This record gives sequence, C-alpha cells and structure tokens, in this order.
Amino acid sequence: MKKFAFTRAEIIEYLRGENDEYLFDAAKNIRQKYFGKEVFLRGIIEFSNYCHVHCNYCGLRKSNQNANRYRLTDDEIYECIDTIIANDLGTIVFQSGENTTDDIQRLAAIIRETKHKHDLAVTLSLGEHSMDTYKRLKDAGADRYLLRIETFDESIYEKARPGRKLSHRLECLEILKKLDFEVGSGFMVGLPGETVETLAENIIKLTEMDLDMIGIGPFIAHPETPFRNFPSGNYQLSLRTLALVKLMNPLANMPATSAMESAQKGGRIRSLEIGMNVLMPTVTPAKIKGNYNIYPGKNTYIKADNEIIEIKKILKSAGFTYSGVRGDSLKYKKKHKLQGA
Ligand code: 5AD
Ligand code: SF4
Repeated sequence: MKKFAFTRAEIIEYLRGENDEYLFDAAKNIRQKYFGKEVFLRGIIEFSNYCHVHCNYCGLRKSNQNANRYRLTDDEIYECIDTIIANDLGTIVFQSGENTTDDIQRLAAIIRETKHKHDLAVTLSLGEHSMDTYKRLKDAGADRYLLRIETFDESIYEKARPGRKLSHRLECLEILKKLDFEVGSGFMVGLPGETVETLAENIIKLTEMDLDMIGIGPFIAHPETPFRNFPSGNYQLSLRTLALVKLMNPLANMPATSAMESAQKGGRIRSLEIGMNVLMPTVTPAKIKGNYNIYPGKNTYIKADNEIIEIKKILKSAGFTYSGVRGDSLKYKKKHKLQGA
C-alpha cells in the first residue's frame, strides 16, 4: 500500500496552497485505486436534537433556547429505517445530541430488532458515554461509532467545549476501539484560535489514531452560539485538509460532509472529486430535518422528501456510482480477514 508520510513542514506548505493541483490529483488517484468511482451511501437518522452539552460552536447546545427541539418516536424511527431499506442502502447512521440513558436504552432495543431482521451495518454518533453504555450498544448489534475529536489543541478544545476535556474524548475513542467498533473521528477546520500549524498538528495526530472513518469539515459560524462572530473555516483550506488526510489514510472511509456544502455550493461533489468516498443523505422526516440545525445550511439544500433519490441523481450526473453495500472500512476488513479486504 502506498501511504504518503508528509513531514510537518510539507503539510504546512500544502495547506498554504503551494501545490493544489498535485495535491488534489494525488488524493483523487488514491481514492480511485482503493474505491474506484464508488460512493458508499449511508442513511442518517437524526432521531433527537436534545443535547446536554454546551459546545460554543453548535446550534444544538443545551443553552440555545431558540432551537426547536424534537425527539422521534419509535414508530417514526422505524419508518426512517424502512426508507433506508426500501432505497437499498447498506448502512444506517443513528445520530443525536449527547443524551442520557432513556434514549440509549430505547435505541439499543431498536438496533437489536433491526439487526435481527435486516443485513445492514449500524453506525452511531451519540457523543461521550461510559464504557458500559458503549458496550450495551455494541452488544445490541451496533458496528461503528463516530466521535470527532474536534481539535487536538487543548486550549482551543476547552474554549470550544466548556466543561469538557480533550483527554476524556480521547479515552472514549480508546474504549470504542477496545470494544472493536469500527471507529471514526475527525475535526473542524478553522475553529477560533486555530493557525495553519494547529491544523497541521490535527492532521498528524488524527493520522496517528489509525482510524476506520474520518469526517472533516469547516467550522460554520452559527448565529445562536457564542462563536457567532468568528469567521467560518475556509473552504479551500478544508479541501486541502481533506486531500492531505486522504493521502495519509488511504484505507479510511471519508465522507463528503454537509459542512463543505454549507461553505460552498457544490462542496460535497467537489469533496468526492478530490478523494472522498462516502455520502450521508438524511432520512430524518423532511418536515423536521431542518431542526437538526448544528450549523446554518445543515439539512436545508435538498428540499425533496426523499433525499436518497435526489443524492443518487446528483451522483450519477457527476459520474459516480453507488450500491447497497455495507462499505466496511478496508482497514477493519483486513484486521478481521473479511471478504473483499
Ligand atoms: N460548524 C461545523 N461543524 C459543526 N459541528 C458542530 N457544530 C458545527 C459548526 N458550527 C460538527 C462537529 C460535531 C459534528 C456532529 O458536527 O464536528 O462533531
Ligand atoms: Fe451537543 Fe454535539 Fe452540538 Fe456539542 S456538537 S452541542 S455535543 S450536538
């Protein structure tokens, strides 16, 4: 496997835009080598936007009184699952704000039932929890877990996530690995206080974590948060970051994130063109999905009731293919000697 090992100085040069053409081309080629033109589609169900955390960048923070809170009923969640199955996707992603045990217990039962009936992968994105909770979810049949580190800079981290510790987030990720989840992490580009050096450090440290999945997107300033007046992360810098991380982590599944679309129209397709290989259409009911308002623009570009059909059309016209495969990470498949590794 050809793996690019850049020095810190080289990373910084690329981040400064000194060789964009080569960088984007190389990242695209490496995606092509391992994944071809195939994009893995994951149907995401944002089943609750309640959150007890106070992240200074996020519209779902507990103290945002203006957020329209919702929690889908079990029946509504099962309808979303049916949509994912009817549209032939191989992975369900359950995402919510960080929450207490009620939601977790309910979700564990839904996962168990779904995995019993259907052959598909289940990914979770539910924030920080105890080892017991993670284990309960794994035992219920969950396969993967996404928990972005957000930044590896302790001081930026503590300013962005008051009351929370970077070390604890890292411990959670360690536990998830030990429990044999396919593990995903990532960060935002351009959090307040970040320099090009911080960003290079984020890229290096994230790569050291040897992840199955990596999600990166620009910070987007949200008007209902304390970070409202900071500039949003730079789109071009985010593209460079994505390409560098792809080159350094060729086997990882990497989504074209909706924050890229928020930063620039067409940003998701552009992300696929420079090496990303995953898209996550939301199947949260169309009437509600706009309330999953982590940042402006989230869940608002695609107005159609069925986002999966729309995304498939967009992919086709951009020359990409998709299928209903689970799309496990190549790294995970190798480790477990699974078919297709
Ligand atoms: N801009 C961009 N990304 C954000 N996230 C949360 N708030 C914002 C924002 N304002 C990202 C975080 C989180 C993920 C669910 O969404 O990285 O982990
Ligand atoms: Fe809650 Fe996650 Fe938003 Fe932080 S980023 S406030 S944990 S939903």
